[in-house]
Amino acid sequence: MSENNTATYTVENRIAWVKFNRPEKRNCMSPALNQRMMEILDEVEHHPDTGVLVLSGEGTAWSAGMDLKEYFRETEAKGLGATRQAQRESYGWWRRLRWFQKPTIAMVNGWCFGGGYGPLFACDLAFAAEEAQFGLSEINWGILPGGGATKVAVELLGFRNAMYHAMMGENIDGKKAADWGLVNEAVPLAQLQVRVTEVADVLLKKNPVALKAAKDAIRRVGEMTYDNAEDYLIRAQEAANFFDNDGRKDGIRQFLDDKSYKPGLGAYKVQS
Ligand code: COA
Repeated sequence: MSENNTATYTVENRIAWVKFNRPEKRNCMSPALNQRMMEILDEVEHHPDTGVLVLSGEGTAWSAGMDLKEYFRETEAKGLGATRQAQRESYGWWRRLRWFQKPTIAMVNGWCFGGGYGPLFACDLAFAAEEAQFGLSEINWGILPGGGATKVAVELLGFRNAMYHAMMGENIDGKKAADWGLVNEAVPLAQLQVRVTEVADVLLKKNPVALKAAKDAIRRVGEMTYDNAEDYLIRAQEAANFFDNDGRKDGIRQFLDDKSYKPGLGAYKVQS
């Protein structure tokens, strides 16, 4: 059993609730936290009791970004090797989360700064408290938004908003984050968990093989030409058929023959 509890998780009704757990440090990401997150992803990814992962933060923060003391100052003092190792550990679990087997939801309950945009973008969907505050605060302490944060801003925000966000060091609240496309939706903090549970419950009823294929496709096709995307999508579906060839046939049969549902109005009943 690991002594490192800088991140924690519980599983309830097939939802893995993963939490940044350094509330006294506003959940900023230290090397220990990054290592613990990778362990948690290892434990949860293929566990049969989980169908969706939700990432949230203990206390008033989602994550105040990288730990300026433990991630930057202390590792840099140890030299280039330690710095690169700390980068591998943080980027490693974000990359793992971007391509996670199961659907992932960021539940942004509070502060979300800088390096926090890495795991924010890594999650497939993101829901924020209206009260949450988002910022590329790097410019306020003298660096550019690194660790992928600039890339996330460009991927999710329009050019002008990305530029303003990176240069001004001003925060935006959850509502504006939703307007700008940084998150899907913002709701009052008191309703956040209920809303996220509602979304997770919908995802839990979908075909899991199709969900993984769909989420990977959304991330992949952005950089492809139309023709390459068309080809990739044919092959991705054929690969998905290898893992679950009966699912889509069930889906067609329940609509055409059983008339038990309409795909335009909801999901077919997935055989468990
Ligand atoms: N790195 C290191 N320590 C951090 C931290 C970070 N990113 N964010 C918060 N902390 C620490 C504080 O130093 C403080 O430690 P202490 O109790 O030993 O003094 C503790 O967490 C609580 O933070 P505090 O600033 O008192 O909380 P607050 O609620 O008043 O303010 C923030 C919250 C998030 C606005 C503020 O902590 C902050 O600006 N953090 C830095 C955010 C940032 O720029 N992150 C980008 C990094 S890439």
